[in-house]
Amino acid sequence: MGISGQSAGIERISWSTGHLFFDLEDLAQMRGQEAEKYTQGIGQKQMSFCLPSEDVVTMACEACYDLLAGDDHGEIRNSIRLLIFATESSVDQSKAAGMWVHRLLGLPSSCRVVEMKQACYSTTAAVRLATSHVEMFPEERALVIGSDEAIYSLETAAEPTQGAGAVALLISSKANVALIDPIAGLHSEESNDFWRPNRHKTPIVDGKLSTRCYLNSMKQAIADYHSRSGPSINSFAGFCFHTPFPKMAHKALHQLLKQLPEEKEKPLKEQLKNSLTYCEKIGNCYSASLWIAFASTLNHGELIDGDRIGLFSYGSGSVGEFLSVSLQPGFSQYLHRGSSEKRIMQRKPLSKEEYTALHRFKTSDGEPDLSQEPVLEEMNQQPFPSRRFYFIGHEGGARLYEERDARV
Ligand code: CAA
Repeated sequence: MGISGQSAGIERISWSTGHLFFDLEDLAQMRGQEAEKYTQGIGQKQMSFCLPSEDVVTMACEACYDLLAGDDHGEIRNSIRLLIFATESSVDQSKAAGMWVHRLLGLPSSCRVVEMKQACYSTTAAVRLATSHVEMFPEERALVIGSDEAIYSLETAAEPTQGAGAVALLISSKANVALIDPIAGLHSEESNDFWRPNRHKTPIVDGKLSTRCYLNSMKQAIADYHSRSGPSINSFAGFCFHTPFPKMAHKALHQLLKQLPEEKEKPLKEQLKNSLTYCEKIGNCYSASLWIAFASTLNHGELIDGDRIGLFSYGSGSVGEFLSVSLQPGFSQYLHRGSSEKRIMQRKPLSKEEYTALHRFKTSDGEPDLSQEPVLEEMNQQPFPSRRFYFIGHEGGARLYEERDARV
């Protein structure tokens, strides 16, 4: 049981990413920058991208497919009565992206499906709602998905901080991975650090302001957390941060360390590195970023049952939440590490020409036309082992998806 007798938490967690990546050294060459600015100054090595036949829905399905592995008799599926899809790069202005996931995963019709948005923060809000649901109905489960493609305009300062990824969290009263502590520190304050008008394919961002807003939001959220008498942050085994780029997480830890005893610096810096193993290869995944950093910490950190991890979630515009989770006995069995990591290994590198063509395709007005980009058509046909979910086109403007047998 967690503090206050609360018992809902994360039963399983898995994540996925796009099947393509672009190397930051290549981008630096294209933009006339020193590679170290990107690889060290920003901390990013590679960025994931989705194929033309992939998007937030297919990445979400891949993550959920792993999560539901072994559920041959549908015991888990049939207990899911809430599906929340958190995203800021959704594919439709009206229909929730979760509706396609719901069908493709064969979830029961007696399920509440909804999409949520508040920049990169919404997965955390979804986890909170899902936890409340499970506390009310302990026999039921909730599926929380965070999935985003982060695509910025070419030749902007934000270009080296793109990426793509999805995370899936099964929330239930069987908190095999971690209990979620009910006490949180919150901070909301309207700001213009990052936004995307409806007509825009890419966001507008004031990068320097966004960094200041992020750090201020964390400071205020932690002050609120202290005022609510949550577990002391001195006792935490590690911290994970929303990671738009790895250096941002380093800046956040640097700020947090000012409140902690000096002997904490070394172990917490080590834990931070563990949280960045995936992020530095896949880039910003907006709503999924914090929770993929958490998965990375669980997979790479030397953590033990009962360890408490602090998490800072930030969404521009802006909302910050500081929360904590405590790890449960045997948590490492429920992380689906192998299949998620295999996806990083399977990604194909983009050449400079392909990167530019893919960017043009993803940001073109109206429905993108693959026949205009021959270099991408061929790439889109490539087989990827264990890939299952495909965006296959439009019919009357409606998006069509299908599941195919994996080649394994
Ligand atoms: N070798 C090593 N380091 C170098 C270097 C070199 N040759 N050249 C520069 N650097 C360092 C700089 O010193 C700097 O380090 P510090 O931040 O520690 O001072 C770092 O590299 C970056 O250099 P600049 O500040 O000059 O970089 P920039 O102005 O071109 O852009 C950025 C940086 C503002 C983060 C930009 O990439 C951006 O706008 N990104 C998108 C916005 C973003 O992610 N904001 C984060 C907070 S908002 C949020 O979290 C929500 C979200 O997901 C977007």
